[in-house]
Amino acid sequence: MKEALLKKIKAREARVAVVGLGYVGLPLALRFAECGYAVTGIDTDAERVAQLGRGETYIARYDSARLQRAIQKGFRPTTDFAAAAKADAIVICVPTPLTAQREPDLSHVRAAADALVPHLRAGQLISLESTTYPGTTDEEIVPRAQKRKLRVGDDFFVCFSPEREDPGNARFPTHAIPKILGGATPACVEVGLALYGAAIDKVIPVSSTRTAEMVKLLENVHRAVNIGLANEMKIICDRMGIDVHEVIRAAATKPFGFVPYWPGPGLGGHCIPIDPFYLAWKARAYGVHARFIELAGEINTAMPEWVVGKLAAALEARGKALRGSRCLVLGMAYKKNVDDTRESPAAELMELLVARGADVDYSDPHVAVFPRMRRHRFDLKSVPLTPESLAAYDVVLLATDHDAFDYALVLKHARLIVDTRGVYREPAANVVKA
Ligand SMILES: NC(=O)c1ccc[n+]([C@@H]2O[C@H](COP(=O)([O-])OP(=O)(O)OC[C@H]3O[C@@H](n4cnc5c(N)ncnc54)[C@H](O)[C@@H]3O)[C@@H](O)[C@H]2O)c1
Repeated sequence: MKEALLKKIKAREARVAVVGLGYVGLPLALRFAECGYAVTGIDTDAERVAQLGRGETYIARYDSARLQRAIQKGFRPTTDFAAAAKADAIVICVPTPLTAQREPDLSHVRAAADALVPHLRAGQLISLESTTYPGTTDEEIVPRAQKRKLRVGDDFFVCFSPEREDPGNARFPTHAIPKILGGATPACVEVGLALYGAAIDKVIPVSSTRTAEMVKLLENVHRAVNIGLANEMKIICDRMGIDVHEVIRAAATKPFGFVPYWPGPGLGGHCIPIDPFYLAWKARAYGVHARFIELAGEINTAMPEWVVGKLAAALEARGKALRGSRCLVLGMAYKKNVDDTRESPAAELMELLVARGADVDYSDPHVAVFPRMRRHRFDLKSVPLTPESLAAYDVVLLATDHDAFDYALVLKHARLIVDTRGVYREPAANVVKA
């Protein structure tokens, strides 16, 4: 079984099904198609599937021409899980969010795996890519294959290979990002290496699926904790009248032993604010309290409140109350130069400002209309930046430092700027750092 599958993969005759066509699944599907594989994309979102089928992407950086070329090469998006029966390799890239109680929500992984069960057969590889706690592949994927009387490592193969997408980073297209791979058995690793090795420049095997799951969590915990430290440094520096960005820039000149992390108005994106809590939750089942993770979470989630406090104080110092003031938030996306607004602290800042009686608008060249979000609802459109529009607000809150903003224009015409990203290096009468 293994040899036959390896042969198919190597000859590029294997069919690949990617389940979940989001920020992770779509580029991966395109990459496999570009490498000569017949690719089926399965997603429960019928609207998204129809859009992709017409050759239109919904992620700005994957242009439609690339998608259309993949379609010509046989890429087929569908909502029908039966298509998985024909696939030799199935890659699962569905969301892994948190519940309202901030606990892992594996419902999408379980729903996708359940929908796949009737279509699993001998001679297939299944690889989970969704970020999750150690043990998920063993506990959720392997038993479902066994339900079909498949023998993992013998006639069926199971891997975990975490995605490492960095939205907006043009230096690292999908194939250039080294990929970690863990298998349920050595044979699973061999098949997984063959599949990913055909599309990704470097694949690094580790000893188990649990190790691979933990690698991804360490990467994200590492960022969350260091950003938490940078945010704490910002609060300390602020009290002491020191510019934290200048401190970090200077420290980063040390050629060894220091890696710069930057403070901000809070954490955003799909990974850093969420994934560490998968590990904290699982660690509790082992009697371990993940203190660094919880502390970083506490500091990072308190940042929007801190920023709004600074903004209110800056207005007050100018004889203006926050209640009734007009605020323009610059940047809705969670980080610079992307259109991704998931978990964006800008939305949280807007909620806090409105709760304190301010009137809020936003401007973001990458986000024309306030997006559909799980926790926030505003009926707003991006305000174009002009001398007149800028001067009409009591305060401009710089939340995301897109390159497309004209910072000189903002400096010239805004009455007050609250800069959470350290964009304005020189002191100015109308700039307050927060
Ligand atoms: N976005 C990133 O930069 C990034 C980076 C590394 C890892 N990840 C991880 O990758 C996983 C996927 O994230 P994403 O950013 O691609 O999510 P996403 O929300 O962009 O896309 C997920 C897709 O899965 C579909 N889906 C949901 N439930 C489904 C089901 N039961 N069956 C089939 N399709 C289903 C959705 O309709 C959506 O199209 C998550 O675990 C995430 O933590 C994301």
